[in-house]
Amino acid sequence: MPKLLSAVQMDAYHRDGFLSPVTVMTEAEAADYRARLEAAEAAWPEAMQGANRNNAHLNLRVLDELTHHPKILDAVEDLLGPDLLVCGTVLFIKEPGDPGFVSWHQDAKYMGLDPYTDATTIWLALSPATLESGCMRMSPGSHGAGMRDHDDTYQETNILTRGQSVHDVDEAAAVDTPLRPGQMSIHNLAVLHASSPNRSSDRRIGFAVQSYLKPTVRQTRGETFVQLARGTDPNRYLHHIGRPRTDMAPEDVAMREKVNDLWSDVLYHGADKRRDF
Ligand code: NI
Repeated sequence: MPKLLSAVQMDAYHRDGFLSPVTVMTEAEAADYRARLEAAEAAWPEAMQGANRNNAHLNLRVLDELTHHPKILDAVEDLLGPDLLVCGTVLFIKEPGDPGFVSWHQDAKYMGLDPYTDATTIWLALSPATLESGCMRMSPGSHGAGMRDHDDTYQETNILTRGQSVHDVDEAAAVDTPLRPGQMSIHNLAVLHASSPNRSSDRRIGFAVQSYLKPTVRQTRGETFVQLARGTDPNRYLHHIGRPRTDMAPEDVAMREKVNDLWSDVLYHGADKRRDF
């Protein structure tokens, strides 16, 4: 018996490589999370910028709660089963008028996770993700053709680590995935997706759990740290770490630095250059 998703939604995920929107909380709850996130940003701005957009859930309770949110995990459990690990999160904040964009790419390309089909990513909106603010665009069914060649462009306004881009995507067949605050999309690690700059007057705040894994997944390019999200991990292929009890505890900050350095080594494995995020 599925916990959150309908059979139609699960079929759509497998057919298209993504599912959107999925409502996991009210707009009022999302507004509360946003207020807590922005208060944390005001208190510790350096904790969320540059490379520190990665894995802030290891240091801030508000993001830890979202990463382990029961409704989000219910949806992921419907797709991956009852044993769930979480290997990383990314804050995707685009300020009003921010030229930052995301080129067409597949998440699995540089994450080193194998098999990537045993993983999924959620992208939760904490402010309106609209056509104007630069919501994600997806290429339905593009996950079926395996991994494509990516051109590492390192474009300045491209907010992907390498500016990695897949060319010749069928734009006409792509679909926008607008989200209200408290809604999320779920995508598998092979579906092609992109997003445009924020031309709205509000911040576009997205929190991606990238990704949830089954315990069958191994890391082929370096080291990866995981938290147990649900069930058990009989394999222990990846390093387990705990959850934060307070915000910005020094031992948690040190652990996160180590996790982010090793994650950066994975993402930039074999790359020509390295940027500071
Ligand atoms: Ni992506």
